Amino acid sequence: MDILKKIQSYREEEEKLKWEGTFSDYLELLKERPYLAQSAHSRVYNMIKSAGIEEENGHHKYKFFEHEIYGLEDSMEKLVEEYFHPAAKRLDVRKRILLLMGPVSGGKSTLVNILKRGLEDFSHTDEGAIFAIKGCPMHEDPLHLIPHHLRADFQDEYGIRIEGNLSPLNMMRLEEEYGGRIEDVLVERIFFSEDKRCGIGTFSPSDPKSQDIADLTGSIDFSTIAEYGSESDPRAYRFDGELNKANRGMMEFQEMLKCDEKFLWHLLSLTQEGNFKAGRFALISADELIVAHTNEAEYRSFIANKKNEALHSRMIVMPVPYNLKVSQEERIYEKMIRQSDIKDVHIAPHTLRVAAMFTILTRLKDSTRGQVDLLKKMRLYDGESVEGFSDVDVEELQREYSDEGMSGIDPRYVINRISSTIIKKEMTSINALDVLRSLKDGLDSHASISKDDKERYLNFISIARKEYDELAKKEVQKAFVYSYEESAVTLMDNYLDNVEAYCNKSKIRDPLTGEELNPDEKLMRSIEEQIGISENAKKAFREEILIRISAYARKGKKFDYHSHERLREAIQKKLFADLKDIVKITTSTKTPDEQQLKKMNEVIATLIDEYGYNSSSANELLRYVGSLLNR
Ligand SMILES: Nc1ncnc2c1ncn2[C@@H]1O[C@H](COP(=O)(O)OP(=O)(O)OP(=O)(O)O)[C@@H](O)[C@H]1O
Ligand SMILES: [Mg+2]
Repeated sequence: MDILKKIQSYREEEEKLKWEGTFSDYLELLKERPYLAQSAHSRVYNMIKSAGIEEENGHHKYKFFEHEIYGLEDSMEKLVEEYFHPAAKRLDVRKRILLLMGPVSGGKSTLVNILKRGLEDFSHTDEGAIFAIKGCPMHEDPLHLIPHHLRADFQDEYGIRIEGNLSPLNMMRLEEEYGGRIEDVLVERIFFSEDKRCGIGTFSPSDPKSQDIADLTGSIDFSTIAEYGSESDPRAYRFDGELNKANRGMMEFQEMLKCDEKFLWHLLSLTQEGNFKAGRFALISADELIVAHTNEAEYRSFIANKKNEALHSRMIVMPVPYNLKVSQEERIYEKMIRQSDIKDVHIAPHTLRVAAMFTILTRLKDSTRGQVDLLKKMRLYDGESVEGFSDVDVEELQREYSDEGMSGIDPRYVINRISSTIIKKEMTSINALDVLRSLKDGLDSHASISKDDKERYLNFISIARKEYDELAKKEVQKAFVYSYEESAVTLMDNYLDNVEAYCNKSKIRDPLTGEELNPDEKLMRSIEEQIGISENAKKAFREEILIRISAYARKGKKFDYHSHERLREAIQKKLFADLKDIVKITTSTKTPDEQQLKKMNEVIATLIDEYGYNSSSANELLRYVGSLLNR
């Protein structure tokens, strides 16, 4: 029921936002809120700005992009500050087509989509509201009604500059429907919607032979010519091309550089003059952001062709490279998995991280600075601290290549490999090793990987694998320390028994066999060495501890694990070193005894409860770490 209520209240909200009035009412609105008359570019910029801007060591982070686009803060900053912002100020870049250039699956379409969806939402806000001449198929800007000779006066009074000519259709309507009385022309608030073809358009070229330019510019509707008597009667024109429909908002031009030239020429005058021409019809003014996207190879061949010079000079190219941060790449995968049909499969911790390491490595370029290998670079880029490197070094590395991130493995490949593995093997859970294996197997069938690249990539897979081995070992050791306190006390008691026997020159009794044994010198030294007690100093250290114990006893206090700081430190270090052996034995034994079994179960429970494994991935991890430690 809740959802129905929500639908109803949404409808009511929508209803409240509607506005309709005469042109003179509209001017009243503009007096108070001149921003309502902003240009398409300015609206896009304000939309981005209104989501918030964070300042981080000299860089701007535009929050508008942060929910969908990860790791590209610098590119987004460039995009906003070198295109959207100046375009909003009516600087010349506004007259250029925005061409996003980046490698496959690097997020170009995602970026265009969030701009579109963002504009739809923004048009529902006060700041982003748009008004248009009512009943106009191109939702023309009402200010076009103001005749040219009065525009300077208007600008003085309202502070708003008007660009563009009243379309022939509205010119005719003004005469016929309103008797030339501009002030009476009806104006309404419009809301962008790609589905309703209002303010947001997409042009996608198909077969150049069959595709009609009308798809882009609209066309004369010959069936109505008889009715209106002439081809140039504006009523005989159908304003239903993408450029018409996207007026006031934005149009995405898909595969622009693959498109037949005749489609592109229209963009020349649109971008430069703010109008376009269709057939035998008058020029049509339009105000819209045009975004296209392409990859580097396509772009290079486009500019290599002299014929394209004019068009090229009317484009502004913004790079959208791959993300180069491991942690952000992980988020990309998480997002893509959430949106996919494999979202219910258990993905063991570190799986996506390890895949991301591999992917990022394929995107990085070897630095000419000797001491930084790709693995270090990968860490530095992700904000980790690496000994011997500072933030300044990181910036220097980032500046070294302008085209870093323009090649390498794309996120879609990784997700495809993960899902195909899951589907093929009917797995309910997947871990880092499964994914690395699958990434490796897939390299053969990856279309755009050369033989040299493949060699390099195989090497990266083994690097990622080694990184995983370390992560896996640490994870298990951490889980073993769950009952750390208990183990520490046991080890300390054992040490103290031996120290006592050593100082008293007596024997200790084996608790199981009852056998009399000499103090275990090896055990004592292995602990003492942890805190650098030399062979010569050991006697003094042991005696000091015994004295401390008797002092405690005299005062009726219990000597425990926390009573002697240095001893505690030694025990702790020893435990961590030993853990390796415990883990090794416990995880690799085929026939665990009761104690080991108990330990295993504890560790598995910790892995599940605290580290996000499920029982099968936890068991796999233990087995794997066992085999690693036994190598
Ligand atoms: N930096 C990124 N942040 C968030 N998601 C990303 C990023 N890069 C890629 N993706 C994800 O990867 C997938 C492919 O991205 P998208 O389709 O936007 O790429 P594209 O550049 O348009 O690719 P193509 O050249 O194949 O058209 C999407 O699911 C997208 O969300
Ligand atoms: Mg795309």
